[in-house]
Amino acid sequence: MNKIKVFANEKTKPMGDLYGIFFEDINHAADGGLYGELVRNRSFEFACIDNPSYRSTTAWEKVELDGGKLSIAVENKNGIGGQNNNYLVAEVYNVGGGAGIKNYGYGTGVPSVEGRKYNFSIFARVPSGDMPMRVTIESPSGKVYAEKSFTVSGDKWTKYEMELCADTTDYNGRLGVYAEKTGKIYLDMISLFPADTYKERKNGMRADIAKLLEDMKPKFMRFPGGCLIHDGSMNKDDRDSAYRWKNTIGPVEERPSRKNNWGYNQSLGLGYYEYFLLCEDLNTKPVPILPAGYNPHSKQAVAIDDLGEWIDDALDLIEFANGDTTTKWGRIRAELGHEAPFNLEYIGIGNEEVGQEFWDRYVYFHKAIKEKYPEIKVINTSGPFAQGTEYERGWKSARDNGSDLVDEHYYMSPEWFIANHHRYDNFKETDPKVFLGEYATWGNTYYNALVEASFMIGLERNVHAVSLACYAPMLCHVDYINWQPDMIWFNNHDVYGSANYYVQKMFMTNQGTDLVKMTTEGLDNKKVLGEEYIRGEVLLESDQSDAVFSNIQIRNEKTGEVKKYDDITARRNESFPLDNIDSEEYTLSLTAKKTSGPRGFRIVIGKKDNDNLILWNVSGWANQDSEVAARVNGRQSTIGHKMFTVDTDVEYKLEIKVKGREINTYIDGEHMNRTVDKQPVIEELYYIASVDADTNDVIVKVVNIDDKAVTSVIEIDGVDKIDGTVTDIKDCALDSKNSFENPTLVSPKENKITSDTNLFEYNFDKHSITIFRIKMGK
Ligand code: AHR
Repeated sequence: MNKIKVFANEKTKPMGDLYGIFFEDINHAADGGLYGELVRNRSFEFACIDNPSYRSTTAWEKVELDGGKLSIAVENKNGIGGQNNNYLVAEVYNVGGGAGIKNYGYGTGVPSVEGRKYNFSIFARVPSGDMPMRVTIESPSGKVYAEKSFTVSGDKWTKYEMELCADTTDYNGRLGVYAEKTGKIYLDMISLFPADTYKERKNGMRADIAKLLEDMKPKFMRFPGGCLIHDGSMNKDDRDSAYRWKNTIGPVEERPSRKNNWGYNQSLGLGYYEYFLLCEDLNTKPVPILPAGYNPHSKQAVAIDDLGEWIDDALDLIEFANGDTTTKWGRIRAELGHEAPFNLEYIGIGNEEVGQEFWDRYVYFHKAIKEKYPEIKVINTSGPFAQGTEYERGWKSARDNGSDLVDEHYYMSPEWFIANHHRYDNFKETDPKVFLGEYATWGNTYYNALVEASFMIGLERNVHAVSLACYAPMLCHVDYINWQPDMIWFNNHDVYGSANYYVQKMFMTNQGTDLVKMTTEGLDNKKVLGEEYIRGEVLLESDQSDAVFSNIQIRNEKTGEVKKYDDITARRNESFPLDNIDSEEYTLSLTAKKTSGPRGFRIVIGKKDNDNLILWNVSGWANQDSEVAARVNGRQSTIGHKMFTVDTDVEYKLEIKVKGREINTYIDGEHMNRTVDKQPVIEELYYIASVDADTNDVIVKVVNIDDKAVTSVIEIDGVDKIDGTVTDIKDCALDSKNSFENPTLVSPKENKITSDTNLFEYNFDKHSITIFRIKMGK
């Protein structure tokens, strides 16, 4: 009989802050998402730099009812102050049945909920006299659900605030602002928040989304990005600057607007002070990530001599979070309303950086932070790939500098995650620790979540090397998708957690304080998937470029046979099948030249169909990669990477050597990639045990990703009897997904489990995730 024996009193490794969350303003995660503001473009700052379709009046419409007449324009000469310059000037010629403006909100509109209270505020001034005004929440056709009147007087910007209460539920609502008299009026920062924000904070978060986060009990929150932090210009005052935290604090009406690299606008209403407050409200540790004066997308870099301002940003942020009120930034924090420190422990420099420019700069940040704040854990980065030269360079930099952690990111096929279950088994305890800052299998089905659960068992087993891990991305507004999969999906009034969310939540709410010893009997069956060697069609492709391929040949290294092929002239994105290769070892060589276009070439090998193949990308999306990727069932994983740029009208001698499942690539004789497309190996069960010293429980996690059930005895050494709970997800089709209609289709159930002795037999269903929480008693 199979057996898992857990030694509850034999702690092996502390689990620290292992599981957390990652917030990035992608998919409208902030504005229109977690940030509670319901008015889109509240301060008329939208601009075409954010998105070519944007104007300063985007999301606003002029309303002229029954003879109402007005003109509107956006000006910026005498704004409220600070860096938020634009405001609306309305000249009302005739009031008629209504003269004003209305806002369309995010997604389907401003959500109006019967009985709900809303906090409305507006900055306004009139050049002379008074202007009676009216604010409404209304239907698209003007049916009023909530209404308040107020009078604007004086030529000084003044904030008017009032509460509205809606009498109707309509998720397609509008916010209306009407003038009740002819004349001129200036308007800005037109804002509507639900009164019941998370923890009822002013300028607060959407409660339903925040509640899902709170329920996970994350140990930390990484923020504010992602690519968001380093994409943009190097000048903090530029409209499209990289993310500079000092731009994001202080009165919201004075904060600048910024381009969001995901193609929209950032109001920065959710700024660093709000992030710290949110962490406090969620009882989670803040893990801010700062740019390093380098944008790897555009290759813009601040001169090393000018890095001071950027390093000061990092030092000042630590002071802002932790300094007492006698310090400059500690005092600013107190003035903003938080005298107590935020207890920052971690800081990240850079996100997914590639290129020597970053490593040259990281050194200075690291040294300055460690000199002033030796207790702060500094996080380095190993780029956007799970392996390859930039990845290795990140790790080398981390070792050389003594970084505390290295931020690894990967989005891969479920099969890659299965094949790499043991990725961290040989990582050394003495090395910098892994911060798995972004990871996900491609998809939100139960299968994805199940495989992620099996992978997380590997993270726990290797907690000596892996200190922090968070799924990414976290949030997605269904009407503004930049990236998927995502952990939590929402629209303007509803939210649900994906299957992946429930797995994260199960693991987070059952994170022990210490791993404990365990032994097993049996449970050593393994199932190897895929083929022993790479075979299938070979193709040459041009990637958004015109190209010429010549001297093409494939040599069968087993037989010595050489096949030659005609030269090819390829137009943009053309694909040319060469042959079908069924050999354990072969070499494809050719000369490739790009004649025009932004990228380069692709060499496809082992193609079964469009969804199952391996490709060597010579250029990549920004023409800076030599990347080997494996596609399984349409889901792609990067399995090798080195930086490389394809120039126009230059001939490159390309060579790809395939041996079994190992791939080596060469350009002009230089070794570019060496990688193995590992076969996934399904283990009979994946299991791990820990104890929670705070609750005195022993926690056993067991994942079965195979399509047959496995029975095993569970014995807990250190308890007399079994008294606890079993929380599991099972009986779900692998392709099932949660949705607004069925938000908990894939979600755990909890039951009691008891036994008069310290062991019990358990049947682990096929495709199941099981967590036992057993009381250890006094
Ligand atoms: O999570 C989405 C994006 O993926 C992040 O912005 C970036 O760091 C990664 O490439």
